[in-house]
Amino acid sequence: MQALSENGRLDAPAERNAPIGVFDSGVGGLTVVREIMRQIPEEPIVYFGDTARVPYGGKSRETILRYSRQIIRFLKTQHVKAIVVACNTASAFALEEIRQELDLPIIGVVLPGARVAGEVTKNGRIGVIGTKGTIHSGLYREVILNEHPTYEVFGKACPLFAPLVEEHLLDDSVTFEMARRYLKELQECDIDTLVLGCTHYPLLRSTIGQVMGDKVTLVNPAYETAIELRQLLRDHRLSFAGEPLREKYQFFVSDDPATFREFADTILPCPTDRTRQICIDGF
Ligand code: DGL
Repeated sequence: MQALSENGRLDAPAERNAPIGVFDSGVGGLTVVREIMRQIPEEPIVYFGDTARVPYGGKSRETILRYSRQIIRFLKTQHVKAIVVACNTASAFALEEIRQELDLPIIGVVLPGARVAGEVTKNGRIGVIGTKGTIHSGLYREVILNEHPTYEVFGKACPLFAPLVEEHLLDDSVTFEMARRYLKELQECDIDTLVLGCTHYPLLRSTIGQVMGDKVTLVNPAYETAIELRQLLRDHRLSFAGEPLREKYQFFVSDDPATFREFADTILPCPTDRTRQICIDGF
């Protein structure tokens, strides 16, 4: 028997079993996809990586909003049931406006990351690292201080981290040196919690952890986002309820799929050989 939803309508199984749309400026959002795959493995996903226009981190709010709207129009052609803005910069700049325009549940990575940082800190001193856009938007600080007005939040933009990750220099001495330089300021702020506020940074967890030392807890917003996504789907009665699908994951990019796949294959547990390129400008 089909369940009645809160507004008295029959739940539509087709809608529940539709994919979740996830997007990012490029490959970084795959760290969020990886968490969703781990925590809610039954859910189908359509991922879009804007590899032709990456990076978003130094672009203006207007540009990010325009890009995000185009991507959402594309994801809607894939009949997604909910949207995850896996990019911190797009979550910081565009999520609130998009939410008001959209008729689907949507979640970004900033709020879940900020919430958990506020819960984990013991001394109320939290660091946030991210792109220039994310740090200058001040959204992590705003969300944390909203809940905990007496806390102190210290932001630091680390624009070279993302390209270092994309060059696969995860454990390289150059990356370690950049981490030492970028994080010096935060080390002097006596923080006990550091938010990895950019999609790429969870892949630098070990380097960042070594530099900050084991007294600082690193928060990965991707992990919390997957937890909140599961709850969001439940709240909207949109959790997958069908037979396990054979082709659960689809990947789209705006530039050459080969480069995307090379990176994706190092972090995802599933094949990405059917990644397709689309022209996002047309949306
Ligand atoms: N995905 C972006 C973010 O999380 C990082 C890469 C970029 O600058 O586009 O902010």
